[in-house]
Amino acid sequence: MSWRRYGASAEETQAAGEAFAFVLRPGDIVLLSGPLGAGKTTFTQGVGRGLGVRERVTSPTFTMVRQHECVNDLGIMTLHHADVYRVGSLGEVDDLALGELVEESGVALVEWGDIAPSVFGLDVITVVFVIDEHDGRTLEVDGALSGREAALDAWAQS
Ligand SMILES: Nc1ncnc2c1ncn2[C@@H]1O[C@H](COP(=O)(O)OP(=O)(O)OP(=O)(O)O)[C@@H](O)[C@H]1O
Ligand SMILES: [Mg+2]
Repeated sequence: MSWRRYGASAEETQAAGEAFAFVLRPGDIVLLSGPLGAGKTTFTQGVGRGLGVRERVTSPTFTMVRQHECVNDLGIMTLHHADVYRVGSLGEVDDLALGELVEESGVALVEWGDIAPSVFGLDVITVVFVIDEHDGRTLEVDGALSGREAALDAWAQS
């Protein structure tokens, strides 16, 4: 089963991210995929807002992963924001050890995470960004989401 939401502007895509924060649970790994400029960072900025990140969330392109402290009632204390677009090898993605980093009280959002499916396995959430000719973005959410159907229905309908 998958859920969709449309972002007609960058602000709406950010709002989709902000609302998506309330679907998340500690330990989640979310792979964000779509072409350059699709809105993966924009969405993550919204997730950061929803999770109560106070600092600015910027593209981690050159650092591979950034950590942001969160203040919320969701049990999520750290947002790990990764971008694996420029990695040299799957081993480098593996070395980030995101699975260990999110244990207990973190979540990870991984831009271009779909290029390393074998590293993350099947127990992930995926968000695919599709750009249309009006500069809108369709976000399609799928993956390890059982038990969250009601929250996702609400997300898709708002
Ligand atoms: N509907 C929309 N949703 C999201 N971004 C939009 C939309 N319309 C225009 N934009 C613009 O598209 C750009 C999206 O950039 P963003 O950095 O979020 O993409 P990205 O997927 O992270 O790219 P990259 O693969 O380079 O990391 C921004 O400049 C944003 O203002
Ligand atoms: Mg980006």
